[in-house]
Amino acid sequence: MPFRRREDAVDLPPPGFSSILSALKGRSVLPSNGGLSCMKVIAIIGSPRRGGNTDLLVDQILRGSTSRGSIAEKVWLYDIDIEPCIDCRRCKRGDHSCAIVDGMKGLYPKMEEADVIVFGTPIYWYGPTGKMKLFIDRLRPYIASGKLSGKAGFVVAPSEEGPGCCGPTMEMFRMSFDYLGMVFSGSILVAAYERGAVGEDEVEMERAYQAGRSF
Ligand SMILES: Cc1cc2nc3c(=O)[nH]c(=O)nc-3n(C[C@H](O)[C@H](O)[C@H](O)COP(=O)(O)O)c2cc1C
Repeated sequence: MPFRRREDAVDLPPPGFSSILSALKGRSVLPSNGGLSCMKVIAIIGSPRRGGNTDLLVDQILRGSTSRGSIAEKVWLYDIDIEPCIDCRRCKRGDHSCAIVDGMKGLYPKMEEADVIVFGTPIYWYGPTGKMKLFIDRLRPYIASGKLSGKAGFVVAPSEEGPGCCGPTMEMFRMSFDYLGMVFSGSILVAAYERGAVGEDEVEMERAYQAGRSF
């Protein structure tokens, strides 16, 4: 699909190192051990391609964050059965659990334990991949439970066109984080098309590593 590359970057802040810290201010996860962090970082990968651009950028972020002492985990959404939200609204009552029994049952506790959640998705038709959207829809229990409130959310989104095509996706993430009480803490938006091409972009790879170190 011949997507045009757009060089006009959308108005996005640089990776929000300071906003991650301020999001977590007052929480016991702030470094108290000589500058090392003991935060839990979970990276949700919404690309089907292992060794793809999302994968490489997220790996750099996790390398950076574990170099500072964080505990990191990467989850491949395409390996997990995720059914669509059916708007049954069970999650609005009782213990706020989701009525659907599928792979999300194993993911919910990981999300709740994390301090930082990295959402990695290639841009597909100016939005996230279908699998990432299924996952986001299933975060609905957290509206009532508030269990993601205060967590830092970071977005990684490679695309052929580059940052200028990421506006709709970033708007969706920002508004959704806001709705869930999460803190938007930055993004890495990179032009890359072939599998793993971003690996040759030393500037973006270093930026991803430093973003991870800032956790
Ligand atoms: C179905 C599909 C739709 C895509 N839509 C866009 C698009 O709207 N804009 C764009 O710049 N790139 C688009 N791309 C290209 C991917 O975003 C790009 O190749 C990305 O680097 C893939 O990331 P990955 O290697 O992590 O899977 C699309 C690719 C596919 C397969």
